Amino acid sequence: MSTLITLEGLDGSGKSTVCESLQSTLPEATFTCEPTNSWYGDLVAESTHNNDADSLAELFLFTADHADHLSRVIRPSLASGTTVISDRYADSRYAYQAATLEGSCIDAPLEYIQSVHEPFSRRPDATVYLDIDPETAVTRAGATNKFERAQYLERVATQYERLIAAEPSRFHRVDATESIADVRETVTMIVETVLDDKKSSELNDK
Ligand code: TYD
Repeated sequence: MSTLITLEGLDGSGKSTVCESLQSTLPEATFTCEPTNSWYGDLVAESTHNNDADSLAELFLFTADHADHLSRVIRPSLASGTTVISDRYADSRYAYQAATLEGSCIDAPLEYIQSVHEPFSRRPDATVYLDIDPETAVTRAGATNKFERAQYLERVATQYERLIAAEPSRFHRVDATESIADVRETVTMIVETVLDDKKSSELNDK
């Protein structure tokens, strides 16, 4: 069964903690993340810690990392029938870089970024959105890079809302201000349901 599930949310929403606990529930799945830990990911990290980085160049660094991630990790795992769970994926670009590119020479940045991904990316089967308000996100994340500022995260959250409104059946919204134990439990339930539903629909197709 080839299922791709992604986790999205503002910095500080608890994605990484949730991913860690999912790993013990689904030991056979491939757990991965964006930015990746490849040399493309290193370039991305260099850019995210540079306040003067060009926003458009940065979009393409993140997108290069995504292309490599797809060919090196995601597609091979899915092809071997393994479930893939990614901590951040293309929606992070649609939300974060659309916010960064607001007011730039790119008209309609969200749609532009989606059009860049469309020919080569793989749409997730389901996306868990850990919903947290920007103020709490900043308090929790502690502003370790230029993206983790309340006003900016406010604009990122607006872009995520547009994505959720456009594809309500793909997104599963979880209140990430609840206790971490509750968030973990809810996300685990959602992921198990998505995997069960996929299994049933594949059996029905046979
Ligand atoms: P992440 O590794 O989740 O953050 P950290 O390890 O610092 O908690 O992601 C790094 C930052 O990059 C985060 O602020 C979100 C941002 N980001 C984008 O702006 N675009 C993207 O496409 C991705 C994947 C992340």
